[in-house]
Amino acid sequence: MKILIQNGLVVNADGSAKSDVLIEGGSIKAVETSITPPEGCRIIDAEGLLVIPGGIDPHTHLEMPVGDIRTADGFEDGGKAALSGGTTMVIDFVNPLRGQSYLEAYGQWMERAKKATCNYSFHVTVTWFNEEAAKEIALLAKEHGVNSFKHFTTYRDTIMLEQGKMIESFNFIAKLGCLCTVHAENDEIITYLQKKLLREGLTHPKGHALSRPPVAEAEATNRAIALAEVAEAPIYIVHLSSGGALNAVRAAQRRGQEVYAESLCGHLVLDDSVYFDNPREKAARYVMSPPYRSPEHLDALWKGVADEAIQVIGSDNCTFTQANRNRGLHDFTKIPNGSPGIEDRMRILWDRGVRSKRISAEQFVAATSTNAARIFNIYPQKGAVKPGSDADIVLWNPEKEHHVSSTTHRHAIDYSVFEGFTFTGSPEITILNGEVVFEKDELNVAAGAGKFVPRPPRW
Ligand code: URP
Ligand code: ZN
Ligand code: ZN
Repeated sequence: MKILIQNGLVVNADGSAKSDVLIEGGSIKAVETSITPPEGCRIIDAEGLLVIPGGIDPHTHLEMPVGDIRTADGFEDGGKAALSGGTTMVIDFVNPLRGQSYLEAYGQWMERAKKATCNYSFHVTVTWFNEEAAKEIALLAKEHGVNSFKHFTTYRDTIMLEQGKMIESFNFIAKLGCLCTVHAENDEIITYLQKKLLREGLTHPKGHALSRPPVAEAEATNRAIALAEVAEAPIYIVHLSSGGALNAVRAAQRRGQEVYAESLCGHLVLDDSVYFDNPREKAARYVMSPPYRSPEHLDALWKGVADEAIQVIGSDNCTFTQANRNRGLHDFTKIPNGSPGIEDRMRILWDRGVRSKRISAEQFVAATSTNAARIFNIYPQKGAVKPGSDADIVLWNPEKEHHVSSTTHRHAIDYSVFEGFTFTGSPEITILNGEVVFEKDELNVAAGAGKFVPRPPRW
């Protein structure tokens, strides 16, 4: 299929210009001021629209098993939600059980992702580390297109890695040319506070926020950065949600350490009143880690996005139904953690970022696509509207209003944490691998249309 996009404003992270864009065979053939339409091509008039690289959401959990339940959005419907919001690629997480073969777990996730409707790639979580683990991690990096590995400083019963192992893992992974990412919250603080609150009879979901205070995140972020410095490893902090953690990142960046930060669209718009001002059932919908924070932290995050101490905005899409949430209505520690966001991530950043004059359109593109492509080493194949790049493109209407409702969203859950919000700025058309898959608010994409995107080591 050949497509010529005419009259749009092409916005890349490094600048914008009015240009035509010619797509052929799944990639971008030309970006020039005036392109003569080749025979048999579809012409799309993009007057008044921005032509931007398809969003890359570097943090999703699609169809992720957690004990006896799994996240509701799978690779098929989750991918559709992504495409309708302008995201054409996700980097999801393979979470091996402790001691499980890394290659086996990777195979399980690849199997589930066969139905993907958007492009995808995988981070792998390091849940155990020894010589045997190292061999498998090296194979994932060298032969399976995985160049980033997540480490948890919390969830002691399941996926936390203790500090000594974390330094070893950081050093080994950095030597492979891969990137270590970290979920940073102090497990001792959380465990202590959880027990204390429950002992005192506080079982309401607000206990989740009270047991995971900003100081727990700031300490663990600082510690992860210190471990990375000793291990001589670049590091990427996932879902950074608070001012203190951001200060630790800023200090390291000023010292010249290679530290990246990702924040989530949800943490930019929701505050902790969702826990304190709601009855149990509703408050339980917002349980995710780190929790939504008080308003001063939202201000700190926005400053970080604007001055680029935070490079990437992800969603951490990790959806559980109300029935799943209800498991913990009378014990907040039993509520499965996670929030949606894959569908509204780009709208949130446009509406609250660009329209609110906090960031430029180029910064929007950088934070929703290009920076993830660069950091995870798939640029300029992804993350750019440039000749030679893959034709994952969004025609973004900066004035289109989108009203969020669980009755119309494409998530497979029965509520929305953004219920009632109106975001201005939304896709008119989404192009995936050179094909129009979303147009006139309708999706036209087959299960399996999403392609696996291997990511080579960074050096
Ligand atoms: O609460 C969250 N964020 N759940 C998903 C797993 C994770 O830690 O990213
Ligand atoms: Zn996490
Ligand atoms: Zn996550």
